[in-house]
Amino acid sequence: MRVTVTGGLGVNGAWVVRELLGRGHEVVVVENREDLTLVRDVADRIELVVGDIRDAERLAAAMRGSECVVHLAAFVAAEQDPQTAIAVNVGGTAQVCASAAAAGVRRVVNTSSKAVYGPTTGKRGFPTYEPIPEDGERLPRGMYDITKSAAEDVLGWYGRTTDLECVSLRFSTIYGPGKLQRHGGNVGIGLVSAYSSMIELPASGLPFALDHGGEERDDLVYVLDVAEAIATVVAAPEPLHHHVYNVSSGRALSVAEFAEVIRSVLPDAQLDVGPGLNPMDAKESAYMVLDNTRIAEDLGWSPRFDPQRAVRHYADHVRAQR
Ligand SMILES: NC(=O)c1ccc[n+]([C@@H]2O[C@H](COP(=O)([O-])OP(=O)(O)OC[C@H]3O[C@@H](n4cnc5c(N)ncnc54)[C@H](O)[C@@H]3O)[C@@H](O)[C@H]2O)c1
Repeated sequence: MRVTVTGGLGVNGAWVVRELLGRGHEVVVVENREDLTLVRDVADRIELVVGDIRDAERLAAAMRGSECVVHLAAFVAAEQDPQTAIAVNVGGTAQVCASAAAAGVRRVVNTSSKAVYGPTTGKRGFPTYEPIPEDGERLPRGMYDITKSAAEDVLGWYGRTTDLECVSLRFSTIYGPGKLQRHGGNVGIGLVSAYSSMIELPASGLPFALDHGGEERDDLVYVLDVAEAIATVVAAPEPLHHHVYNVSSGRALSVAEFAEVIRSVLPDAQLDVGPGLNPMDAKESAYMVLDNTRIAEDLGWSPRFDPQRAVRHYADHVRAQR
């Protein structure tokens, strides 16, 4: 199948592209910057259309002959630049759907986020971390949350009013190679880069220290599992039973437990993690667990990388890049 991937040169996109190619699909990537750093190994197998997802002409060229669109392009620094976030994440998503419908694409797989559930409150957070199902209340508050939630509603509208089948996948906290390289200093979305630092620094022989937060728990999903979930949805028979799926590990892992896993894989790791909560001193907590029962029951997907296997794969990848 021919698949158009927006944002396919990004951190998650790179692994999605590899997974789709590995399954024999033809891949066309739409990207606004031609940075092939994260896809060097497969770059010659990708058709690249350089352009913005708000550009109907570029999208038409990229979607010609595609059966499916995987939509990963997004603007993350939403608190700093809300107008661009709205334009790209909401307006751009609408353009992706409109162009897909016009090109006769059958399905759009949108990458959404736990952000739609908003800041963690009550039983969703410490100490219970009650898993949130897809029909759990959406309480977006930050601008990123608001744009991801609005994008889902835009998708819903296209799904109801055109022949497109539209589905949104809500990821929990994703970690994996590429994150630090691409988003290094940006910890505005929680522990995201810190989890990567916890592996990448020790894997390179450097120390990692966090003076508090070891008891905070989060739902970590490895980027290869994310790529596999997306490829599973791409290939699933029509119609899907639902239009929203959580993609997560479904379990609450503490920062201290994660550090233990890393020590078991990298025995020389110098990792110092202090006790307590809120490791990044976030104003509002975003640590939560997403219930992944629905995607397991409907599509047979569940994560294949437990933390041990993921850390081993991640550390090997980092070492191989040196
Ligand atoms: N990283 C996480 O933990 C996480 C968690 C939940 C959901 N998500 C979602 O997954 C998706 C991918 O995230 P990522 O971490 O790979 O992000 P990323 O920033 O690494 O990749 C996004 C890519 O989109 C491209 N892009 C941005 N704006 C564009 C535009 N206007 N036109 C064309 N291309 C554009 C960027 O150049 C980049 O390569 C996003 O939708 C994000 O909201 C990520």
